[in-house]
Amino acid sequence: MRKLEYLLLLTGVVFVAATNSPVQQQQQSLSTPSRPNVIFILTDDQDVHLDSLNYMPFVQKHLVDKGTSYRSHYCTTSVCCPSRVTLWTGKLAHNTNVTDVNPPYAVGGYPKFISQGFNDNYLPVWLQQAHYNTYYTGKLFNVHTVDNYDSPFPAGFTGTDFLLDPFTYDYLNSTFQRDKEKPQSYEGEYLTDVLTQKAYRLLDEAVHAANPFFLTIAPIAPHCNVFMNGTGLDKNPVFSFSAPIPAKRHEHLFEGVKVPRTESFNPDELSGANWIRTLKKQNESNVEYNDYFYRSRLRALQAVDELVDGLFARLHQHNLLDNTYVVYSSDNGYHIGQHRMQPGKSCGYEEDINVPLIIRGPGVAENASTDVVTTHTDLAPTFLQLLGIPLRVDFDGAAIPLTPREIEAALETRQEHVNVEYWGFAAGEGIYDFDLSAYNNTYKALRITGKGYNLYYAVWCNNEHELYDMNEERSIANPIKTDPHQMHNLLLDKEEATILMHHPIPKLVARLDALLLVLKSCKGASCVEPWRALHPRGGVDTLADALSARYDRFYELEQPRVRFNECERGFLLHSEGPQFESAGKMFRDGLPWYEWV
Ligand SMILES: *[C@@H]1O[C@H](CO)[C@@H](O)[C@H](O)[C@H]1NC(C)=O
Ligand SMILES: *[C@@H]1O[C@H](CO)[C@@H](O)[C@H](O)[C@H]1NC(C)=O
Ligand SMILES: *[C@@H]1O[C@H](CO)[C@@H](O)[C@H](O)[C@H]1NC(C)=O
Ligand SMILES: *[C@@H]1O[C@H](CO)[C@@H](O)[C@H](O)[C@H]1NC(C)=O
Ligand SMILES: *[C@@H]1O[C@H](CO)[C@@H](O)[C@H](O)[C@H]1NC(C)=O
Ligand SMILES: *[C@@H]1O[C@H](CO)[C@@H](O)[C@H](O)[C@H]1NC(C)=O
Repeated sequence: MRKLEYLLLLTGVVFVAATNSPVQQQQQSLSTPSRPNVIFILTDDQDVHLDSLNYMPFVQKHLVDKGTSYRSHYCTTSVCCPSRVTLWTGKLAHNTNVTDVNPPYAVGGYPKFISQGFNDNYLPVWLQQAHYNTYYTGKLFNVHTVDNYDSPFPAGFTGTDFLLDPFTYDYLNSTFQRDKEKPQSYEGEYLTDVLTQKAYRLLDEAVHAANPFFLTIAPIAPHCNVFMNGTGLDKNPVFSFSAPIPAKRHEHLFEGVKVPRTESFNPDELSGANWIRTLKKQNESNVEYNDYFYRSRLRALQAVDELVDGLFARLHQHNLLDNTYVVYSSDNGYHIGQHRMQPGKSCGYEEDINVPLIIRGPGVAENASTDVVTTHTDLAPTFLQLLGIPLRVDFDGAAIPLTPREIEAALETRQEHVNVEYWGFAAGEGIYDFDLSAYNNTYKALRITGKGYNLYYAVWCNNEHELYDMNEERSIANPIKTDPHQMHNLLLDKEEATILMHHPIPKLVARLDALLLVLKSCKGASCVEPWRALHPRGGVDTLADALSARYDRFYELEQPRVRFNECERGFLLHSEGPQFESAGKMFRDGLPWYEWV
């Protein structure tokens, strides 16, 4: 991010004398002077890498063909509730401390969102303050239940119709709760169809109100079906997972379709690290079940696809398409069989963190895609900027470039990293082998892509390290082999490449580790511009810059290394090893600290 945008961030002034102010551009391209509407469709556990979007013809027709696909969009914590809290607050999980789904350690769920004070300080509240009407239907957070839904009600909404635990993932027996009414059971009805009617009703309400609107539609497909006996608040709740349940009319589809057999699918060789490296190869019945689970996801997504089609028909009818942004994403990604894992999320591998993001609206290029790096922390800033509402200085992300011109500029200037973090266990959601060692699924990781490099670096709570060179093409940086599927850990397989980006691997790792140290400790600006935290006087904006020999001593001898003291299931500072000390101090007297040094 360059100085100009900092100014925007700091002062909230959306009109400055500059040629490339995103808001100006967007206003120029709007055909009406009124403030735009936003519809945000947020699916649950939808992948990019298992091809699910290719089985959604209406999403293709209305969104992919008519909008821009952000191929390098990532969640930062690969599980529902932490990811959603990040999305609605613009803050990383280490700055919300909502780090898990359920509350056994008081680390997650709706109760933790409330106790952390976010109910007065998150996107819907900010939108309402700016006189937007706000609507929501579907799943908000985990452990938002038939018992706690009104204590307190989620703040900031004009109209709501929430799914509630313990029936959130019960495709044939859901419970919804509208506005301030009592919860209502829809036993025997198909969840996504009920939700579709609710979404259309809210849209109708929104269209007939005087203010512009922000409507969120959050179906649970393609999440697995969960029968919960008790909720996350009970002492010993019993959750049983099964494949997602499609609508009757879609049950027969995709016969014979299987999980894509990539190099990492149920491989002969061990791969990954920590508990993943202990998994045994799946036998034929296990693979067959996982293929069935995969088809069930695709089938369950068909009702969402129909929802999208009906939504666009209504937007067209109301003549709203020229003044409405439609954004499609998912809370986290999903794996089935990669690295021998059972169906689930929670890992840092590409299947789990790279998620769909498609945006359609005024000024956004049609049938376009981009590799500019964006994350869920960027969505709250994006929405505020889109609606002309001042950004907040404590955001851990930056607004996503939307117009072709903004995207082109961003390819030169935008950050190249994704900050990935996780605490706790990784649940297997199929019927086979729940691995107890997956309880130690705590790690910090980093995705970084720049000109000529494409890397994943991770440090686990048992201090195992991973480094994958994910370049898809052979290049000077990578003359030996390509590894987009993260099969060759360069810090373990000593026979693999020892030179990467023209440097011995330890030199590169020293830089990655220092960057990860900043990111795992960052707040606000230091999350967006971590190299600035390391080099306050500038000169280093990319990994390639940091590799200069003049910084060898700084990185290789002077920086503490990322390490854990213990594996914990929550964010307990005493277990997290060294922190980057200056990370929270990037602003002084309202200006970035490097203005003062
Ligand atoms: C989208 O672009 C691709 C080429 O990039 C083209 O083949 C395709 O026909 C386009 N689709 C539409 C709907 O314009
Ligand atoms: C996060 O929350 C947990 C549980 O409430 C608490 O024990 C921990 O100290 C918090 N972490 C930080 C860094 O505040
Ligand atoms: C469906 O949910 C209701 C509560 O909303 C519950 O009383 C009922 O037992 C459930 N039915 C089944 C078949 O689980
Ligand atoms: C739910 O759990 C209770 C005990 O906690 C048990 O009595 C009851 O049978 C269980 N119900 C089902 C449907 O499993
Ligand atoms: C296949 O593997 C699963 C999971 O380990 C196991 O439960 C099952 O018994 C195995 N089936 C056969 C036929 O070996
Ligand atoms: C988790 O890691 C801790 C060390 O931090 C170890 O003592 C424990 O045995 C591990 N648990 C499992 C289930 O692997």
